[in-house]
This record gives sequence, structure tokens and C-alpha cells, in this order.
Amino acid sequence: MRLFVAAEIPPEVQENFGAVRGASRDDAWRWVAAGNVHLTLKFLGETEEGLVPRVKEALAAVCLPVAPFELGLAGLGTLPPSRPPVDGDRRPPRPPRVLYAGLDRGTVELRRLVLGIEDAMAALGFQKERRLFTPHATLARVRREQRPRDTAELLGRFGGESFGVWHCGGAVLFLSELGPGGARYTALGEFPFGA
Ligand code: 2AM
Repeated sequence: MRLFVAAEIPPEVQENFGAVRGASRDDAWRWVAAGNVHLTLKFLGETEEGLVPRVKEALAAVCLPVAPFELGLAGLGTLPPSRPPVDGDRRPPRPPRVLYAGLDRGTVELRRLVLGIEDAMAALGFQKERRLFTPHATLARVRREQRPRDTAELLGRFGGESFGVWHCGGAVLFLSELGPGGARYTALGEFPFGA
């Protein structure tokens, strides 16, 4: 089963992503279904079902000593990042694959939580993420072989826009099932912060 750990984003914040989708006129974007946007904390990937109880136990232990904190999403970004032109840098900018809403509140707390989850999952044999954690809520992915033309316009238009602030009270383990209509996510366990 394909698993990942995430922080949920409440529906009233997700509603605000509709303005971004509504402002885009480019079919190259494949939008994440309304309500499915989340902040990925750790992608576990294909996991033996027999390991799930230990994953849940470990997540519960990581989350228990954490104090709830506020998270806020504002502005848009792309992965890979759209590089500002630098003198002497002749590399062409890499085309975007992902359009995301960025975190503007709770980054320090979320990074700390991610490090705790990384360590706990590494102890169970999961690969540690080697890339630096970039907190992001994916709103859209670029369709295969396509290239959106409105990226700069969207980034500019929503640069200063807040999508909302909420109280993050825990992490969630999700099952991801990929299908022709997109991914279906099912919560397998919720791990409240207890401090
Ligand atoms: P994302 O946060 O950039 O969208 C469920 O598939 C979640 O796990 C997605 O939100 C996705 O990232 C993340 N994910 C999927 N495949 C991944 C991979 N190979 N490495 C890291 N994260 C991945």
C-alpha cells in the first residue's frame, strides 16, 4: 500500500484555493481535487501492510510530546523553483512541475515535526529524505509534455495573498490509491499532538 504522512488543511482554507484555479486559463495545469490538498510531511511510498501498526505506533509517539501550533498558507511557488535571473547564470530555467501554496506561519514547528517523523520512520527502515524539506501544499501539477504559460502571472497575482491560518493539532497517516480520476486519499490514523 502507498502511504504518506500529512498535515490536513481545513475545508475553509481549501475553499480559498478556488480563486487560483479560477484565475488560471491554462489547461497545462492538472488541479488537485477540491478537498484533497494537504501538506506532505513524509512520503513513505509502497509499504507492507504488516508494518502499518508499527508506523502508527511510531507516529503516535512522535506526535504526543508536540504542542499544537498555528499554520498559515500564503502566496504561490513552483517546484522546481522559478529562478530569478542571476548575472552570469546561463542555465535555462527549469520548467515547473508543481504549483503550490507556500507556508508563511508555523514553518519552524513543522520542520521540527518532520525531523521527528523522519527519524522515527528511518528506525523502521524507511529511506530518509535527502532533499531539504520545502513545506508546500500542492495545488496543481503540470500535465505530461505540457508547459503552462501563466505561471508568472499566477505567482504575481497571488504573491501577497493569504489563503488562511489554522490550528494544527496533529498528523495524519494517509493511504493513497492512484486511479484514472486522480488519487484517492483515505486516512488510516490520526495522531494528535499531546503537549
Ligand atoms: P506533494 O506534496 O509535492 O504533492 C501523496 O502522493 C503525496 O506524497 C503528494 O502530495 C506528493 O507530494 C507526495 N509524493 C508523492 N510521490 C512522492 C515521492 N516519490 N517523493 C516524495 N513525495 C512524494
